[in-house]
Amino acid sequence: MINSMYGKSILNLTELTKEEFLSVIELAVAVKAKPDNYKGVLAGKILAMIFEKNSTRTRISFEAGIIQLGGQAIVLDSKSTQMGRGEPIKDTANVMSGYVDGIMIRTFSDQMVAELAKEASIPVINGLTDDHHPCQILADFQTIYENKGKLAGLKLAYVGDGNNMAHSFLIGGSLVGMDVSIAAPKGYEPKAEFIEIAQKNAEKSGSKIEIVNDPVQAVKDADVLVTDVWASMGAEAEQKEREEKFKNFQINNRLAVQAKKDFLFLHCLPAHRGEEVSADIIDGSHSAIYQEAENRLHAQKALMIKVMGNL
Ligand code: CP
Ligand code: NVA
Repeated sequence: MINSMYGKSILNLTELTKEEFLSVIELAVAVKAKPDNYKGVLAGKILAMIFEKNSTRTRISFEAGIIQLGGQAIVLDSKSTQMGRGEPIKDTANVMSGYVDGIMIRTFSDQMVAELAKEASIPVINGLTDDHHPCQILADFQTIYENKGKLAGLKLAYVGDGNNMAHSFLIGGSLVGMDVSIAAPKGYEPKAEFIEIAQKNAEKSGSKIEIVNDPVQAVKDADVLVTDVWASMGAEAEQKEREEKFKNFQINNRLAVQAKKDFLFLHCLPAHRGEEVSADIIDGSHSAIYQEAENRLHAQKALMIKVMGNL
């Protein structure tokens, strides 16, 4: 079978067809089960990683992943490169394309990443931007699949900020036929353009998209409960103001009783216990946060194999 993803940049999940998305999850499950079978698949390949925002999981899982596949990583902090001094993206993209086989970037602007991908002749993977976090969703959906045995037909409720995670859940869930219900305070709902994309996907996949301001409504009969920090990277100055506005949007036992009895709890981490989630939920029996974090490694190995390895 021809791998339609070879050479492809993954800026957000609109880049993938449903079949491509599911094929990454399937490969992630296989890579996790038999990692030795994939040793050396990316031998000689180099991934450059650019970070303009902090990271623990993304940084370590991408670097460990490419090493396990036989390749190597170069980790760059944009401040120490000429990018930090304003070198045009076009020049950076063209120059890097001559040195390495792929770029993973974590930054603020989606537009900048789109320009990098347009100018580069190698795949560019979004490792988190202000509007998207596609790699996290691949790992999350792998985790949901491992725990629930399916994706289509489930209901996922996201309670909190209409941020990069919310956008990515909307696009990913609607693509695979999962109902996605988002509860955010007024003024913090996901951006209209991503709701629209999700609604179009949902018409095709037969799922339901709902954006509400009432957490109880969102969580009702959900199979998966998810939240994220109230103030994302770049919005730290709004922390206090957001604590006030989001105070009724915590996933805790009182809210979780509205969900299905066997609900799964996910959080991309880092988490703030006592803010977006209570400690008894995140550290309780429904939580799969460490499995989810581990799956970043497997899902990204699968993604790198697809876009850099032509398997
Ligand atoms: N979830 C996630 O992307 O974690 P890091 O910020 O630690 O990479
Ligand atoms: N929404 C969070 C996710 C962190 C992994 C942020 O952008 O900071």
